[in-house]
Amino acid sequence: MQSTSNKSVRGAFFNKEVATLFKILKRIKDDVNMVFEQDPAARTTLEVVTSYAGIHAVWSHLIAHELYKKKKYILARLISQVARFFTGIEIHPGAKIGKRLFIDHGMGVVIGETCNIGNNVTIYQGVTLGGTGKERGKRHPDIGDNVLIAAGAKVLGDIKIDSNVNIGANSVVLNSVPSYSTVVGIPGHIVKQDGRRIGKTFDHRNLPDPVYEQLKELEKQLEKTRNGEIQDDYII
Ligand SMILES: CC(C)(COP(=O)(O)OP(=O)(O)OC[C@H]1O[C@@H](n2cnc3c(N)ncnc32)[C@H](O)[C@@H]1OP(=O)(O)O)[C@@H](O)C(=O)NCCC(=O)NCCS
Repeated sequence: MQSTSNKSVRGAFFNKEVATLFKILKRIKDDVNMVFEQDPAARTTLEVVTSYAGIHAVWSHLIAHELYKKKKYILARLISQVARFFTGIEIHPGAKIGKRLFIDHGMGVVIGETCNIGNNVTIYQGVTLGGTGKERGKRHPDIGDNVLIAAGAKVLGDIKIDSNVNIGANSVVLNSVPSYSTVVGIPGHIVKQDGRRIGKTFDHRNLPDPVYEQLKELEKQLEKTRNGEIQDDYII
């Protein structure tokens, strides 16, 4: 009786281990396919598995995050730091990251503890998803699905970057961004939303003419002086 129950416990454990192994292999396969889709420079599976720091950092993070969830904080940090040493990418074990995160080149990327990253996100080298240094608790951004964060961009604070957003290279984003937007600059501002340019509504038939504007202003001042509305010795 005892041995039958031992067998079934062993069987359940074995099934769980096999299921986990399949999950890991599927994740590896998906990540390799993602690199082929995103990077035209990728040639062979062996090259991707051995030479893409971005996916090494993500795989290490999966282990570190599991340990973090089990409150094995020091071991989790240790794995994260070893991954940083080899990849130049620092992902805090507490960060929650979705599927198909592509960190291209990677060097100098920092992802904070309370960050949540959705699916299909692309991040280039030098990106920081960090805090502003003033808050405690939830202090890092939430990134939606299909977001591109270009090289050197900093996304700071407990803000929400909705899905399908592009963040331009070297931008510093301090406020939440609605979906289908492009943000550039310091501080980051929306330049495109739902495919339309924002803040540039040039009417090409009525382009501004600064010289004409100045002459009009002078004419107004002279008129006022003639009428005695302005009495200024310096106005000729
Ligand atoms: C922002 C980005 C992702 C493009 O997004 P997009 O939605 O296609 O936006 P557009 O290219 O139409 O640009 C919109 C406007 O923002 C401007 N802009 C784009 N990127 C910018 C940046 N990093 N800083 C300042 N302005 C920028 C464009 O000049 C354009 O201005 P305009 O309306 O006056 O012409 C892209 O410009 C970018 O930054 N790519 C960098 C990718 C990268 O990191 N490559 C490194 C590979 S190693």
